[in-house]
Amino acid sequence: MSSTFKMERNLALEVVRVTEAAALSASRLIGRGDEKAADKAAVDSMRSALNSLYIRGRVVIGEGERDEAPMLYIGEEVGAGFDKDDAPKVDIALDPLEGTTITAKGGYNAMAVIAMADEGGFLNAPDTYMEKIAVGPGVQLDKSDIDAPVADLLKKVAKQKDMDMADMMVCVLDRPRHDKLVEDIRATGARITFIQDGDVAGVIATTYPDKGIDIYMGTGGAPEGVLAAAALRCTGGDMLGRLVFRNDTEKERAQKWGITDYDAVYGLKDLAKSDNVMFAATGVTEGTMLRGVRRMSGGAVTHSLVMRSKSGTMREIEARHNFTRKTGFYGGAD
Ligand code: FBP
Repeated sequence: MSSTFKMERNLALEVVRVTEAAALSASRLIGRGDEKAADKAAVDSMRSALNSLYIRGRVVIGEGERDEAPMLYIGEEVGAGFDKDDAPKVDIALDPLEGTTITAKGGYNAMAVIAMADEGGFLNAPDTYMEKIAVGPGVQLDKSDIDAPVADLLKKVAKQKDMDMADMMVCVLDRPRHDKLVEDIRATGARITFIQDGDVAGVIATTYPDKGIDIYMGTGGAPEGVLAAAALRCTGGDMLGRLVFRNDTEKERAQKWGITDYDAVYGLKDLAKSDNVMFAATGVTEGTMLRGVRRMSGGAVTHSLVMRSKSGTMREIEARHNFTRKTGFYGGAD
């Protein structure tokens, strides 16, 4: 076994500390009605934790562009090995708090998320919207499916899953922009589960047979699309994405990241290109896949998911944090 392989395996287990740190800090702000404070807590902790990892990391999906994000901005270099030649060079896609509104309102499915890959391993998606279709293992999508009538797509998925249309469950973000989509889905006889926020969890849920979600459809954040694709590279499944631009400024932004074909349809391997992807997420509030942070006197319990595309191993980690011994960016007695 090569030393690089060992290092990568160890790194995957180290990475979960980064999402645990962000989740623990954000969890202090659950239901406090302050989205900015919750996000800042997660960002600060995630950055400190990242800077303790022996990597040469470059943020490619982050909190925004340098002028609008003081930390974890796109292009920021992170990691304790940033000036060391032997530290693994990785591109990082992150969302310290996926679900700021959820956290502020004490809702469902907020989590801290990070993905790492070899250099150039992720689509440099601008902070725009993205049309997304995602399915779990065993179902294959074609790029043309994104323009197919909803009924045709759902029939195709139902056939591949050997399911009756009336049993199919589609996950959709509850937004007025999805009114027509919802109408079209209902016309097929399929069922819908609406989520208020947090479409990374919505996409990943399609990959768990016991979550009862057969397909994710709709428009959400483009960065979240890349993060969800990173997860699907590990779990199996398929995904399509197409950027949605609201104005020319967004197009200019995209151009800055090398995107010139504004109508391009991205497949799973265009969104998360590397064959060597790691993904970690820790629940902040209770959710479909992850339990939220449970705080108690002197400590807290976190629930995380860590996975690697190379091995396909998915680990769930329940960690009991003792704040009387561990302080600082883990959200303890700092
Ligand atoms: P935040 O973490 O910024 O609150 O994003 C949550 C989210 O629901 C994402 O999961 C989703 O992709 C996006 O917002 C949808 O955007 P919008 O709320 O503008 O419809």
